Amino acid sequence: MTDTLTLTRPDDWHLHLRDGDALRAVLPDTARQFARAIIMPNLRPPVTTTDLAAAYRQRILDARPPGSGFEPLMTLYLTDNTAADEIRRAQDSGFVHAVKLYPAGATTNSDAGVTDLARCHGALEAMQDVGMPLCVHGEETDPSIDVFDREKAFIDRVMIPLRRDFPALRVIFEHITTRDAAHYVRDAEGDVGATITAHHLLYNRNALFTGGIRPHWYCLPVLKREIHREALIAAATSGNPRYFLGTDSAPHARHTKEADCGCAGCYTALHAMELYATAFERADALDKLEGFASFFGADFYRLPRNTGTLTLRRETHAIPGSLPYAEGQQLVPLAAGESLAWRQVADTTSS
Ligand code: NCD
Ligand code: ZN
Repeated sequence: MTDTLTLTRPDDWHLHLRDGDALRAVLPDTARQFARAIIMPNLRPPVTTTDLAAAYRQRILDARPPGSGFEPLMTLYLTDNTAADEIRRAQDSGFVHAVKLYPAGATTNSDAGVTDLARCHGALEAMQDVGMPLCVHGEETDPSIDVFDREKAFIDRVMIPLRRDFPALRVIFEHITTRDAAHYVRDAEGDVGATITAHHLLYNRNALFTGGIRPHWYCLPVLKREIHREALIAAATSGNPRYFLGTDSAPHARHTKEADCGCAGCYTALHAMELYATAFERADALDKLEGFASFFGADFYRLPRNTGTLTLRRETHAIPGSLPYAEGQQLVPLAAGESLAWRQVADTTSS
């Protein structure tokens, strides 16, 4: 049995860092494990322009722990009004690496999202021209569709037509949760990738209801049936470079999740690589973790692979029950109180 695991330093290709005190509370967790991360733009107000992304990027750099070389890779939030010029400005900036499509109303802070992709044709054409990738939250928002079927409906209603209209657009199907999405990404023509979270690899929807309702397992897209989790494991451990790591770590203060209408999002930045290692080990595929975590995302985004390393050691330890968050609030990490079999070893290289 392997007792230490050293990987090329990984990157997180889908991360929510928030802003202000919350940003300062959570950023050290990500910076400890990952060299870079794709930063989601769903702030209030959303990060819709290159200027806003530049200012947010600076706030992230300023919030880094001393000595950290963590690099935030910024994204723009696509709206019905995003102009083609804004896409060119983003591309020229060198620090905006993708544009994010949130269907309006699909998830946390998405009310400024796209109501109809037909309104975005100018921006999408510009993205296709300059090679700027589109990160997609792939869920239909039609309230008549069952919540558990929204990802599949999105493939048929939005993803396939979008990729027919813009065949050279580079698309990342984010936080895929179904066998349908995993197979779509595997079989699609063109430049398509997908991120997969640790929680969707480790849990099925029973986790939401184990002994009672469990708000800290609630995220969007919501956990699905076991057949879908198994398909995600098969995808992540297949060695297919279209699938790569994106935690979708999404912090919400404890009282906003343990509420009558609790927020969607799981906090996994604290122990992301330990969670992924657990999932890969259970599938007897630890040898496939490095490609998924450290190589394939960088390759897709056309960025250099990292040169530093991250080491995990086999060591059973408890996940804290809660962590300090903004303004004296608490943040509950996923699987709080349970134990982990792996632990990150303090690192010497951080590039
Ligand atoms: C995210 C958040 O809280 O910002 N929540 C989540 O459940 N994943 C939004 C998102 O990525 O859908
Ligand atoms: Zn997200």
